[in-house]
Amino acid sequence: MSELISGVEAKRLLMATAGLAAIAMAVAVAWGAGMQAPPDGLTVLGRPVTGEQIARGREVYAQNCASCHGANLEGQPDWMRRLDNGRMPAPPHDESGHTWHHSDQDLFAITKLGVGGVVPGYESDMPAFAEILSDDEIAAVLAFVKSTWPERQRGFQAQVTANDEGGS
Ligand code: HEC
Repeated sequence: MSELISGVEAKRLLMATAGLAAIAMAVAVAWGAGMQAPPDGLTVLGRPVTGEQIARGREVYAQNCASCHGANLEGQPDWMRRLDNGRMPAPPHDESGHTWHHSDQDLFAITKLGVGGVVPGYESDMPAFAEILSDDEIAAVLAFVKSTWPERQRGFQAQVTANDEGGS
């Protein structure tokens, strides 16, 4: 008996629908801009990861890391075999590599200082990004990399990070 719905009720219904549509549109715009909701509880260097940070980290990665570590974080071909110059190729940053074996603090230091900066005397093709990226950009690229890992690797790496904070 729709003709019995009062004008007020009809208006209220219309407004509720419009509200939902507005929310749906805002979500769609965020997704369209490449925004990705961070996995539940994901942190980087002790701070909750945001969608903006992941989006920024994805760009930083594409511009600074993909040439060696792969556009899809897959690493260089045959990455476990030492190169003729005695150095190691760039490993993957996805779950098939060992990036997730390191704490946030170590990943930050390796990216900022290079592997040679963290392990004195070690010769490596991994550049130091201290002069190229800000600390925020390094945190963002790590947030992006971490956001791609499955739950098991995220959980493991969170534990390693927590142990590292304990001062080991
Ligand atoms: C010029 C090539 C090159 C670029 C560009 C590069 N890397 Fe690397 N990276 C390497 C190589 C080679 C290694 C392996 C070093 C070794 O074991 O000697 C490495 C290792 C690493 C490691 C240690 C991984 C592990 O499991 O031990 C991290 C973390 C890392 N890179 C992060 C980054 C990030 C983040 C960027 C971009 C901001 C980046 N790298 C850009 C070549 C590169």
